[in-house]
Amino acid sequence: MNVLITGGNGFIGSHTCVELIEAGYDVIVMDNLSNSEGENVKKIEKITGKKLCFYNTDMLDYSGVDRIFKENEISGVIHFAGLKAVGESVEKPLEYYENNITGTINICKAMKENGCKRMVFSSSATVYGTSGKVPLVETLPTSATNPYGFTKVMIERILKDLCIADPEWSVMLLRYFNPIGAHESGVIGEKPKGMPNNLIPVISKVAMGEMPYVMVYGNDYNTPDGTGVRDYIHVADLAVGHIKAMEYLLSHKGSEAVNLGTGKGTSVLEIIKAYENACGKEIPYKFVKKRSGDVAVCYADTTKAKELLGWEAKFGIERMCIDSWRFTQKK
Ligand code: WQD
Repeated sequence: MNVLITGGNGFIGSHTCVELIEAGYDVIVMDNLSNSEGENVKKIEKITGKKLCFYNTDMLDYSGVDRIFKENEISGVIHFAGLKAVGESVEKPLEYYENNITGTINICKAMKENGCKRMVFSSSATVYGTSGKVPLVETLPTSATNPYGFTKVMIERILKDLCIADPEWSVMLLRYFNPIGAHESGVIGEKPKGMPNNLIPVISKVAMGEMPYVMVYGNDYNTPDGTGVRDYIHVADLAVGHIKAMEYLLSHKGSEAVNLGTGKGTSVLEIIKAYENACGKEIPYKFVKKRSGDVAVCYADTTKAKELLGWEAKFGIERMCIDSWRFTQKK
């Protein structure tokens, strides 16, 4: 069965490609390589020993997207492609709305045109906005605090409306919490371009001596140690969740939103401690003022993922940090 992975060269996309190939799927990758040089496609081939069909195509290029469907019998799409930096989205809203929303509409139009009506969409816990009602459950209303988050809210709406208009469509909206870690081989992992925003890439740079210390954004939150609490999930667990989602779509129509998290909250200081244990080095840090837009606590209600997909996360924080460190050292 052919599955098209848009954004398959990215962090979560590349890990999902590996899992799909190892589960026996045939994978076609579409990526505009805006976020990296394309080395992940070769790395996926190295890990799996399988040649990958790759298209260097931008989802804003409708004819290029349509060509992929014309040249391949595609049964389903896992749609990762999109811009995803929260801060950057505030500075460049038009670029984010055009790329993420118009791009997704192009993908859906090409799917419809070519008779493919199954999509797993890479959504995010960011659609819960600043609701603060933890554990976060899928029935909560969606909102956002930045253009990036609003693109995810709007794309979820577009896909739900598509399923209402045409009951032949099957859509799974996967709401990721905080994906971290790396493939156990250390060959692929999280390698953001430029200065990292997320916690683990910052800690990795400090561990490698490329940054002097971690700036901990706030230590007076209403949490056990005063620092922000998040639901960190191993990217390998996340990848398996996509396989389960695609399998579900093979026998169900309509749209569903499902959280992919561990259901456990971990603080910034606890992550730093776990990373120190993984790398065997001290990770210096300084408390600075809170980052605007951050919530104190965010973690998933995992009931629906278990009941609907038969999926739950397997790996804990220690393994996430060990796998992340192994990749960091090999980069
Ligand atoms: C985690 C915790 C920070 C960096 C973001 C996006 C979200 C999703 C996942 C795409 C928070 C603290 C961080 C640092 C710190 N991405 N922190 N110093 O903000 O929970 O979620 O990534 O879908 O949409 O918003 O992740 O890793 O940036 O922050 O203290 O240098 O670490 O305050 O408590 P976040 P993060």
